[in-house]
Amino acid sequence: MNEPKTSNDPDKTSKKKERVIQKPIPPSNVTTAYLILRGALAAVVGCPIGGEETTPSLMQPSYIKDGYPSGKFSVGLGKKQGTACALQIPEDAQGQEWLYDAIESAANDIVNQNIDLNMFVMDREVAIDKFTNAILDQSQLKVPKKPTEDDLNLKLVYIPNVILGVPPGPVLASTGMIGGKIVLEREGCNVTAGRKSRKCDIVLKFKIELDESNDVAATDAIVQDNVNLDDISIGFQVLLSSDIRMDQGKTLHETVMEANRRRLEEEAIAAANALKIDDTLNSEKETSSDMVVNAFEVSGKIDYSKLVENFGSKVIDPELLARIERLTVGRGTVPYLHRFLRREIFFSHRDMVKICECLENNQPFYLYTGRGPSSGAMHLGHLVPFLFTQWLQQAFQCPLVIQMTDDEKFLFKGTYDEENGDNLDYFAQLTIENAKDIIACGFDPDKTFLFSDLDYVGTMYPTIVRIWKAVTTNTVNGIFGFDGSSNIGKVAFPAIQAAPSFPSSFPTVLGRTQEVANMACLIPCAIDQDPYFRMTRDVAHKLVPKSHPLNGKPALIHSKFFPPLQGAEGKMSSSNENSAVFLTDTAEQIERKIKEHAFSGGQDTKKLQLELGANLEVDVSYQWLRFFMEDDEELDKIGKDYSTGTGEYWSTGAVKAKLVEVLLDIVGEHQKRREKITDDTVREWMKERCIL
Ligand code: TRP
Repeated sequence: MNEPKTSNDPDKTSKKKERVIQKPIPPSNVTTAYLILRGALAAVVGCPIGGEETTPSLMQPSYIKDGYPSGKFSVGLGKKQGTACALQIPEDAQGQEWLYDAIESAANDIVNQNIDLNMFVMDREVAIDKFTNAILDQSQLKVPKKPTEDDLNLKLVYIPNVILGVPPGPVLASTGMIGGKIVLEREGCNVTAGRKSRKCDIVLKFKIELDESNDVAATDAIVQDNVNLDDISIGFQVLLSSDIRMDQGKTLHETVMEANRRRLEEEAIAAANALKIDDTLNSEKETSSDMVVNAFEVSGKIDYSKLVENFGSKVIDPELLARIERLTVGRGTVPYLHRFLRREIFFSHRDMVKICECLENNQPFYLYTGRGPSSGAMHLGHLVPFLFTQWLQQAFQCPLVIQMTDDEKFLFKGTYDEENGDNLDYFAQLTIENAKDIIACGFDPDKTFLFSDLDYVGTMYPTIVRIWKAVTTNTVNGIFGFDGSSNIGKVAFPAIQAAPSFPSSFPTVLGRTQEVANMACLIPCAIDQDPYFRMTRDVAHKLVPKSHPLNGKPALIHSKFFPPLQGAEGKMSSSNENSAVFLTDTAEQIERKIKEHAFSGGQDTKKLQLELGANLEVDVSYQWLRFFMEDDEELDKIGKDYSTGTGEYWSTGAVKAKLVEVLLDIVGEHQKRREKITDDTVREWMKERCIL
């Protein structure tokens, strides 16, 4: 073993100005242990030799300490979080302890295998070109102004898992010759990783615990003449890749990933809680009901006051209703408040008061709603938000944008098979068919812009990118319940539904002026869409000028669900043919569906019905009449008769007959309007044009 010695090379002294740091030469076992550890580190974290961002390692001089040969060095693994390596460098103390364990164990494997160390010399430029300067030892970093032959050649060593520059001084001929066990001294080790750190650095402090019976004769490695890199058998290519190259690294990787998964789960839950997104599913389970309301599922008996409480929205109280009435009916734009408002079908809101203020102050705003075209056949339930939006547009005399999320439906329900490919085009076609039903609701063609995401998303892209930047995957996962197995489009999609909430998504349709940038947005929707807009409201301030009256937050007005025929619980679905009345149904079909399938809240026998009357809450025919019959007095009378088993509407049969009459009228009128709407009409409505 070589004694440590100080360089007294006269040549070096003469270049003192350039080489400020004069370090003592470490003993050969310390240098060798350093090289072994450097290799073990690269193998365990999966760092390519010469990864672009890896920085040269720096050996610090403290070579014999408390009788142990020892050393300390640092390696940079790239910007933030160790971007230069495959392993996600652990941020927490426990993870870092695992990392030290793995490197230590990998290093001692290399020691125990007693691998020959091949030193060779390579032209500096060629070597750096091939491996980048990450292979350099700190001592080799700078080339003096007047370089010698030595400076222009690099002394390198091939050690398992890396090729490295050799620091000044001798290196042992094989790894086993260090004569003991490499131990990482934890209190001197350090890992910089984490969200706040700009760079990922690892400092390793080590010592060699020498074996007592160390009889391996130590000799120094000599520089080999003709080392051909292609001969370095164990996969030279591997060294250039960021593969994790030793078992210790693979195990560590799995452990770290598992811990990360657990941490992310916890964070997702925390993020959801922070946004007050109560996972109604869970909270409801505790309180015995099985109500489920989220963006993808609505089932069970819906407790709307609970929902408002959980979601953190506000119920529309009589005072607000009166104010809306003053600002609409009072201004003569509509004859009366929409029945959906009179009957608490649109029942909840966010910032509706601010929209009233906009109206009072003559500040312009626009309406935004949408539809995911999942089937060609729309049913009555689908009409609810559009009928109401049409009324709002007339009442407020304002522009309206309607988003068709064909992209969403493909991402969530699309299919792919080897034979026929995917069905994205199918959803694009549904957009056109559904658009006809939407247009038939009677919007103002000069003030309405209808768009398909697949078609229009480019114009919204700057807005979408800003939303992506502002929302974390954890937040989206927390709100929508996605996880690592969800396709990446699903995770990205909420920003696309959020984007139309901002006027910046409509540079042509609304314009690019400062006044437009300050336009507020009101979204009528069923309450299950609220999660999208809670997310939107959370980041909204980042997307509008400071002067925006709602700080960018879209206002919302929420509806209850239109109940399916089978029972007044949950939402209607187009997948069960008999649970819905479709807009394409014939008079006979409608009559049959109501008579055969509408769930009755009436009593089982005439006698009981006359005695007790019907339960209106669960009676679908009565509930549907609340949605579609305009006349309050008549509805009142039906309710009274039916619930008491008296008068003209004492029986289920009479109520059903009335409902059929009402529906035939509504559906018939709708069909007449729709017939006139062609593909060309749809194209007109979807043309990017100013609707102010
Ligand atoms: N996601 C909605 C659906 O599946 C469609 C939609 C997009 C929407 N943007 C909207 C609904 C805005 C209401 C408001 O039907």
